[in-house]
Amino acid sequence: MLGRRNFLYNSLSAVGALFLSKNSLLSGASDSGAANSRIEVLLDEPLGIISQNIYGHFTEHLGGVIYDGIWVGENSKVPNVNGIRKELVDEMRKIKAPVVRYPGGCFADSYDWRDGIGPAAKRPKRTNFWSDSASSAAPANHKYETNQFGSNEFLRFCKLIGCEAYLAANVRSLPAEQFYRWVEYCNSPAGSTTLAEERAAAGFRDPFGVQFWGVGNESWGCGGNFTAQEYAVEFRRYTEWVPRYGQQLSFIGSGPNTDDWNWTREFFEELVRKGTGRLHSLYGWALHYYTWNLSRGRTMDWVQGKGDAVKFDTVDWYELLREGERTESLIDGHWQIMGEIDREHQVKLVVDEWGPWYRPGSEATAGDQLEQMPTLRDAVFSGMTLDLFNRHPEKIAMANCAQLINCLNSLYLAQEDKFCVTPVGHVFGMYSAHQGGQGLRTIFSAPLIHYDRDGKAATFWGLKGSASLHEKELVLTVVNPHVGEPSEAEIAVRGSGIQSGTATTLTHADIHAHNTFEERDKVKPETSSVEARSKILRHTFPAASVTTLKLALA
Ligand code: AHR
Repeated sequence: MLGRRNFLYNSLSAVGALFLSKNSLLSGASDSGAANSRIEVLLDEPLGIISQNIYGHFTEHLGGVIYDGIWVGENSKVPNVNGIRKELVDEMRKIKAPVVRYPGGCFADSYDWRDGIGPAAKRPKRTNFWSDSASSAAPANHKYETNQFGSNEFLRFCKLIGCEAYLAANVRSLPAEQFYRWVEYCNSPAGSTTLAEERAAAGFRDPFGVQFWGVGNESWGCGGNFTAQEYAVEFRRYTEWVPRYGQQLSFIGSGPNTDDWNWTREFFEELVRKGTGRLHSLYGWALHYYTWNLSRGRTMDWVQGKGDAVKFDTVDWYELLREGERTESLIDGHWQIMGEIDREHQVKLVVDEWGPWYRPGSEATAGDQLEQMPTLRDAVFSGMTLDLFNRHPEKIAMANCAQLINCLNSLYLAQEDKFCVTPVGHVFGMYSAHQGGQGLRTIFSAPLIHYDRDGKAATFWGLKGSASLHEKELVLTVVNPHVGEPSEAEIAVRGSGIQSGTATTLTHADIHAHNTFEERDKVKPETSSVEARSKILRHTFPAASVTTLKLALA
């Protein structure tokens, strides 16, 4: 067990000397010396309300996401509701999925929403954006879009889950008029317009009431290859007159790729060229960050830099987390630049694509493009990322994990009648308790993890998380990233005391563990009760784990 002296030394190196002297971290703690870590939750330092939409999802007409993932068809032997996979709906209700983004991604800027409405048998077949890069094993409907799933089906899916829809409009290849018409189709009052009648003919008399609208996707790349200035001009034009029908509309601009600070700065400069009033038209600024480079600094090549989803060593484990940790500096960096022009910070960040991206080879279903097998590593990564979002509630209005099913950081895998919840899906379930809570500042103090990064000493933090308050219940989520060592922590709430509660933990003895159609429950959360002594809780966080503590406060 690490001595107290070392503990303090490591804590200091982890969080900085200023922090200890300013916050008297150890005051009031029991001093038995058994715990090597400490977590302090500061009730009197609220950070802001954690938007439920931070727990959002992303679905694209790509690989097996829509066809086979969400849509199985009305005549399928797979249990379904109007063609939508029932088990998926049931699971998404359990995790309180708040919002789903659709129809892309890159697909969005080649999609004509009109292709996906009207009688299914009459809908056209089109070449999917991802067609050229689909493998030869991919089914035909992954390459050639049948449009059997379109706006009506997607919005019914959202209704079944009880979540909001976030639609991404095509800026690259459709005129602004088509954006207005899509809004009209979705939101115009019953019986008001020809499009409202078309909607009613499809069985949807009442408006869908879609609030969130993306104005293009990755407009710096697949979404039109614009310069930031060009895109800002397009954004002003597309959002200048959009019919409201009494529905609040929240427009989300296509933001930067990773650390493209210039994209953010130049967009904002151009947006306000005709006055800062234009800031009102921008609800959110979309940041995309995929964690893909596991080369340990050897290359920046998009293909060469990737690692394997399942076959990895302990250094790869830490590398993924280190790369993922960059998200925090991206949020801070873009936020600061936005603030140079948007001084009141009216515009929030929307991290509408995030997650690890590995090289091909671990697909549960051969031919499913960009599908990968989420392991315990991705669960720890996802817990860490959601904690990070929770710690910035004033900045982040929404986040959407890429993607929901059969693609990248999937919460679910499905193939015909087979289905499973991945370790990532379980983390979303465990973290849903934070939604809508008051975020609180936390101080984590734990020994650093030391590891050998190709002959060079490297470190990673030992314990981190986030907290939110829900009346008298405190929700505290904690990640222990250490591949082999548990961490025992004293948990104290400044301004109150802890009584008792529950701890739900996701972990496994094998860091590569994952769920498959055959072994659906290999990695699953376990819940037990916890009891505080003298208002302080001692809790052991297993190696390679994610934990949700729900604690009644004194
Ligand atoms: O999520 C896969 C793709 O990654 C999306 O279509 C695109 O927006 C991003 O580059």
